[in-house]
Amino acid sequence: MEKDHGVLSDHSAGIEEHEIETTLRPQRLSEYIGQPKIKHELEVYIKAAQAREEALDHVLLYGPPGLGKTTLAMVIANEMGVNIKTTSGPAIEKPGDLVALLNELKPGDVLFIDEIHRLPKVVEEMLYSAMEDYYIDIVIGEGPTAHPVHFPLPPFTLIGATTRAGMLSAPLRDRFGIVEHMNYYTQDELTKIIFRSAKIFRTNIQDEGAHELSLRSRGTPRIANRLLKRVRDFAQVAGKQSIDSAIVKQALTLLQVDDHGLDEIDRKMLLTMINFYHGGPVGLKTIAANIGEETNTIEEMYEPYLLQIGFISRTPRGRLVTPAAYDHLGIAYPTDKKQ
Ligand code: ADE
Repeated sequence: MEKDHGVLSDHSAGIEEHEIETTLRPQRLSEYIGQPKIKHELEVYIKAAQAREEALDHVLLYGPPGLGKTTLAMVIANEMGVNIKTTSGPAIEKPGDLVALLNELKPGDVLFIDEIHRLPKVVEEMLYSAMEDYYIDIVIGEGPTAHPVHFPLPPFTLIGATTRAGMLSAPLRDRFGIVEHMNYYTQDELTKIIFRSAKIFRTNIQDEGAHELSLRSRGTPRIANRLLKRVRDFAQVAGKQSIDSAIVKQALTLLQVDDHGLDEIDRKMLLTMINFYHGGPVGLKTIAANIGEETNTIEEMYEPYLLQIGFISRTPRGRLVTPAAYDHLGIAYPTDKKQ
């Protein structure tokens, strides 16, 4: 079971989360903010596939949670003018589930599989021929009456999303013609997303308010949008006509999100490394056990951002807290450590 980490949780998409994501999702590439390299490449591939009247090649999107992999898959289907079926790796338990999904596809349609690294092996193996040559071979019946059936499929596009490209098997990874790494968003991009979302929510936000919020959103649109909703509540109750930087600071201090977007768990992780392991190097499993979190959660949600902002570094012997993180936490960097 994944845990709910309050406002920063990325794995507990509840009803409100669902509502936020569906109303705020851009529909077209032109509305999609950020990820310029991916956008530019996709524009070319989509145009070319459309001109040839072919299905778009299979696409693998990987990167930290909340960066818009599902949104991008929906945008791709929209741009191609085809239907999209969405599912996730763990939801496809047996080959029959995959057959049912593939059976509904029309030529050119998109099948989106989130968390594709969690597909059962037997299902993954069926995908190989489906992706490569648009067919699957299934065995119908059991015992003496069992017989193989060759099942042709329409040309389709598989879009796979994963937080962990390294956990995909090579045969699966190699069958994606288009592989894109999603990066954290810049502050400028996040500010634009916040303004766009505020407009959809019919909420006024000042430049400084949006900027302050962008600083605290961990480079992640999903977090920016979630925090925007919370800050909007605080502004409303405080009787403010618009969200300014003071109310953002006040609300996010209450929510324990600091000016680098770190939450309680990030701080607990860094402080554990500093106080119990002299700032490292220390192994990820040891850190996880100490703070009572799953190793996977740390690896997928916490570590990538701390690495990105240069608060931890990876060494062959484990993770190290950097001088920048000591500085941020107001703790003196030990003089006996080499910089
Ligand atoms: N809302 C969430 N992510 C977005 C993005 N990348 N572009 C525009 N709006 C968004």
